[in-house]
Amino acid sequence: MDLGIAGKVALVAGASKGLGFGIASALAAEGATVALASRSRERIDAAAARIDGARGYVHDTSAPAPAARDLLDAVARDLGPVDILVVNGGGPPAGSDALGFTTEQWEAAYRSLVLGPMDLVQAAVRSMRERGWGRVLAVSSSAVREPIPNLVLSSSHRAGLLAAFTTIARQVAADGITVNTLLPGRIATDRIVENYGSVERAAALAADEIPAGRLGTVEEFAAAATFLCSTPASYITGTALLVDGGLTRSI
Ligand SMILES: NC(=O)c1ccc[n+]([C@@H]2O[C@H](COP(=O)([O-])OP(=O)(O)OC[C@H]3O[C@@H](n4cnc5c(N)ncnc54)[C@H](OP(=O)(O)O)[C@@H]3O)[C@@H](O)[C@H]2O)c1
Repeated sequence: MDLGIAGKVALVAGASKGLGFGIASALAAEGATVALASRSRERIDAAAARIDGARGYVHDTSAPAPAARDLLDAVARDLGPVDILVVNGGGPPAGSDALGFTTEQWEAAYRSLVLGPMDLVQAAVRSMRERGWGRVLAVSSSAVREPIPNLVLSSSHRAGLLAAFTTIARQVAADGITVNTLLPGRIATDRIVENYGSVERAAALAADEIPAGRLGTVEEFAAAATFLCSTPASYITGTALLVDGGLTRSI
């Protein structure tokens, strides 16, 4: 299938490794010109160097305005206006006591999981509308369907962003822009290994708890992302797609 994104400009946030890097690589493999962003100049340049024609940008998803606008302007100057925006970043801290987080921690999580991504979306959608084509995709979590007990900050704020995306999707649907969300379950990245303590422990727990019997791969996740960012996916908007090997039971 021709995904129709050759020559499109894609900006992927949180892309120095893991799911973001996987999505950036997959979009580039389909011919998109890719801008990767993360907090570290060294890490993002190293990541961009692994993708032909890609460019790295320093951007912290939780940075206040006008950081997002500045990033979109810089990418437009270097590569052209952003056609495909993937919002992604790190997850907030875990903790087994859902009542044990401070107000500052709640606010920081809100900034990185809702406000920062929304700044990027607002900055990108304006020019997508002018050009009559755009793809916006958020990397979220299966926790929005089934809150994970030790991840109350993540579960709560990601649900908020999903509600915003569903609302915005309707508002921009007639402008050729789709706005979707991917819900990873347990995909094999550094974050999952950190959460479980080791690759072996993650694999063993995955075999027990995930119907597919294993962790997902970054490539499997990136394939779903790339399709949602494609031209043939033009009638899919306002949706949230689980990529979790059957883990989530909610209907
Ligand atoms: N992997 C899974 O199965 C899974 C499941 C559910 C949800 N998620 C969520 O999906 C997102 C990506 O997960 P992952 O597994 O790919 O994690 P990862 O392997 O740890 O990668 C995280 C990426 O985000 C960047 N990043 C972290 N904080 C950032 C910030 N404030 N601003 C900009 N970039 C930031 C990191 O780069 P720098 O350090 O260079 O900034 C890195 O490139 C996370 O929010 C995670 O919670 C993942």
